[in-house]
Amino acid sequence: MILVTGGAGFIGANFVLDWLKEPNAEGIINLDKLTYAGNLATLASVKNDPRHLFVQGDIGDRALVAKLLKEHQPRAIVNFAAESHVDRSIHGPADFINTNIVGTFNLLECAREYWNGLQAAQKTNFRFHHVSTDEVYGSLLPTAPAFNETHPYEPNSPYSASKAASDHLVRAWFHTYGFPVVTTNCSNNYGPYHFPEKLIPLVILNAINLKPLPIYGDGQQVRDWLYVGDHCSAIRTVLAKGRLGETYNIGGWNEKANIDVVKSICQILDELKPRADGQSYATQITFVNDRPGHDRRYAIDARKIERELGWRPAETFDTGIKKTVQWYLDNPIWVEGVVSGAYRDWLDKQYS
Ligand code: NAD
Ligand code: DAU
Repeated sequence: MILVTGGAGFIGANFVLDWLKEPNAEGIINLDKLTYAGNLATLASVKNDPRHLFVQGDIGDRALVAKLLKEHQPRAIVNFAAESHVDRSIHGPADFINTNIVGTFNLLECAREYWNGLQAAQKTNFRFHHVSTDEVYGSLLPTAPAFNETHPYEPNSPYSASKAASDHLVRAWFHTYGFPVVTTNCSNNYGPYHFPEKLIPLVILNAINLKPLPIYGDGQQVRDWLYVGDHCSAIRTVLAKGRLGETYNIGGWNEKANIDVVKSICQILDELKPRADGQSYATQITFVNDRPGHDRRYAIDARKIERELGWRPAETFDTGIKKTVQWYLDNPIWVEGVVSGAYRDWLDKQYS
């Protein structure tokens, strides 16, 4: 088996669903705290799959993690669990420190103790895969080369600082204890099951509900977008073939300014679901106050993972964004489950 943490969130759940599509796949223990971002509805199709064991719990709960490791003897851990939204980290950093730093520390310690007790062959094969972000590298000038794996860490938000700290812990556990880790730093993901606090799903849902499409600042901030299925395939590749102690940057070669992303979504919706009044959804675009400390540009140089492990993204931004918009139109029940309740309080807090 493998142990996946945070597997009820956006990327973790996509990873679990992709993994279990393979008929001969190893089983998954899915440990997730079910914060506001965790959603069992996303995992409905594998609810009765005997290869999927869901456990609600915290990566920082050492007794629980130790018990799961002892009982199920996984050959790898893939750590997705995190607080992941930059704007929430600005309103309240404490959860980010607790989960992303202290939680990762506790998980590492439990995993190291388990690994120490393994027989030689299992010990050699064991992997701890830490899923991280390009935001740890900070912000790029418009013409600067994209982030490669040796770019200095310069995190600018409480979220990215907490992820940077966790990356450093993972690195130190390799160098100090010989604990077998790999880390991946990925650019912005988008795709099915994305929680609509993030730009792309927020804009799709606001558009079809005829609400404003909020663009922070001048909308010229650049992100490098990667379809979530491509991120999952990259993680599988690194888990299988990545060199221990190495980090691999993962990106989509799709640098786009926020305003252009939003205009693309409006154009697709104008074709798939034209507004009753015949106007474009782009008329709903509204410029709002900028995010404090907003990073101007991220871009990933993904040549190392391509050169060493042969991975490249399968989707372009055009193909991925069309699939994504269509998915949100086709899945109103999942959407309704997410946007009711506490999600409304977040929108009031952030956009009022
Ligand atoms: P998400 O917020 O959608 O999901 C996070 C999941 O972790 C949720 O299911 C939540 O319940 C769970 N969780 C939170 N705290 C926990 C804890 N203490 N113990 C156990 N479970 C806990 O996040 P995501 O977008 O799926 O991101 C997953 C990982 O990928 C994160 O580590 C994030 O930093 C990283 N990442 C995200 C992106 C992106 O664009 N979304 C890009 C690069 C890297
Ligand atoms: O780069 C990887 C990171 O991508 C991950 O590590 C994070 O977990 C993930 O949340 C994402 O961070 P961003 O801050 O880049 O994503 P977000 O979707 O929140 O914002 C994308 C861009 O859009 C960013 O420049 C801020 C802007 N934005 C966002 C929202 C929610 C807006 O202009 N308006 C909005 O309402």
